[in-house]
Amino acid sequence: MLDAPFYAAVESRRTIRDFLPDPVPQEVLDRCLDAARLAPSSSNLQPWEFVIIRDPKARQLANAACLDQLPAKSAPVLLALVTHRDTWRRNRDEILRVFESRGPLRKSHASYYRKIIPLVYMTGPFGILGPLKRLFSRIASLFKPTPNLMSRTDVRVMAHKSTALAAATFMLAMRAEGFDTCPMEGFDPWRAKVLLDLPRGAEVNMFLAVGKRSKQGLWWDRVLMPRAWVVREV
Ligand SMILES: Cc1cc2nc3c(=O)[nH]c(=O)nc-3n(C[C@H](O)[C@H](O)[C@H](O)COP(=O)(O)O)c2cc1C
Repeated sequence: MLDAPFYAAVESRRTIRDFLPDPVPQEVLDRCLDAARLAPSSSNLQPWEFVIIRDPKARQLANAACLDQLPAKSAPVLLALVTHRDTWRRNRDEILRVFESRGPLRKSHASYYRKIIPLVYMTGPFGILGPLKRLFSRIASLFKPTPNLMSRTDVRVMAHKSTALAAATFMLAMRAEGFDTCPMEGFDPWRAKVLLDLPRGAEVNMFLAVGKRSKQGLWWDRVLMPRAWVVREV
């Protein structure tokens, strides 16, 4: 790999499962959170929320929700990365507000965010419109390229995709700062949701343990699938 700082961070980022107690400076955490906020997201709707678990009682419950995995228990900082599938309307309005504050709204922006976004993301009460939208897209696609007018499940997938990109950006930023992370999908989603008081359309995408690796922190050698399995051309 190129000897550039970005590649050094990519190469040296590993999942760390045992951390030193050394604190993570707030300014480092803030820089990495701000880097994560720059991650790409579907229609720039940024469906994520980083929740820093500071309160000792909440932390204990979060460790338990993470099934008492060692990375959660040993890390000086534990974050929950929450994905929101219902914030698209609020965030769409914010995008329009910011554009308008910068000058006259471009026609293409207005029609994209006012017409296309609701058409794609709106799924109606209890997601009732979803199957109809999906069926319509599937049939239309037989005749011409058609975007997936999403069902509630599709909106959920969209939100998770974008949120995971924010997670990756955060972990690489942390590595660039000389810190380590452990992403965790092994957790109890119902307890996590109650603990963080999440609304119906929100769920934890993953927990992120953050700190400095201990000597025993790296458990497994890196194993990569053969390149030919994961890269191809058509
Ligand atoms: C979405 C996701 C969930 C994961 N969940 C856990 C987890 O619950 N516990 C854990 O120890 N590692 C977890 N990992 C870490 C993976 O096991 C790890 O990334 C993989 O083994 C590759 O190792 P590396 O990150 O050191 O390259 C998770 C990784 C991802 C991306």
